[in-house]
Amino acid sequence: MRKQVYIYRSFERFWHWTQAFLIFFLAATGFEVHGSFVFFGYQNAVEYHNVAAYAFIILIAFAIFWHFSTGEWKQYLPTFSNIKAQINFYLVGIFSNAPHPTKKTVLSKLNPLQRLVYFALKVLVIPVMVISGLLYMFYRYPQKGGMAGLNLDSVEPIALFHTAGAFALIAFIVVHLYLITTGHKPTTNLKAMITGYEEIEEDDTEKTAAPNEETKAETIEK
Ligand code: HEM
Repeated sequence: MRKQVYIYRSFERFWHWTQAFLIFFLAATGFEVHGSFVFFGYQNAVEYHNVAAYAFIILIAFAIFWHFSTGEWKQYLPTFSNIKAQINFYLVGIFSNAPHPTKKTVLSKLNPLQRLVYFALKVLVIPVMVISGLLYMFYRYPQKGGMAGLNLDSVEPIALFHTAGAFALIAFIVVHLYLITTGHKPTTNLKAMITGYEEIEEDDTEKTAAPNEETKAETIEK
């Protein structure tokens, strides 16, 4: 039997959708600054990009606090077990209705590929964007045209890292949007991130319904 399980808590959903909006907005304004198209106008695009960047940094600070205070950070520890089965599923199995090789549970909601990719986003791509973005912002001000402490006499390497990170994030979004549709039904994953609830096999919820308040699964019989 399948049961509705509360899998994404309210802060998690707020963080996910705010982050999604900010990354879209930062990509749009960033590529306008880059010169890819004209929409807001260059000067506005720069200002909006700066405001959204500050909002993103504040959101990241809250998200870091949330991940550590709830213990949810452990969900993102990469694992290589079952990774081959997961890759085979996306390349072959998914087209012949094969069962999903990783069972989603409350205590382990990410499959091994998601763990790897989200971990790389958290420890690599997003820090690169924030650090290169802040360097970009303050590059001009301290020494007017150089950062003595960092031995940078041109903004070029900063721009390169920042733009490469932006392309990596966009590639991630494209794949992410496709994978959203590969749940039990095409809308299952999207609904789960909106309502917090997802339909999961009963065995899994029973195995993983944690005894403490923090991770307790709220289930509704279907
Ligand atoms: C906290 C995060 C971020 C900060 C502090 C930041 C800051 C900046 C700054 C100061 C600039 C230069 C604007 C100017 O020339 O006046 C810039 C450019 C840019 N940003 Fe960001 N940004 C951040 C996140 C992002 C994200 C998430 C994306 C894309 C998904 C992005 C994409 C871009 C692009 C494409 C450019 C143009 C780069 C170039 O042509 O050299 N930024 N950013």
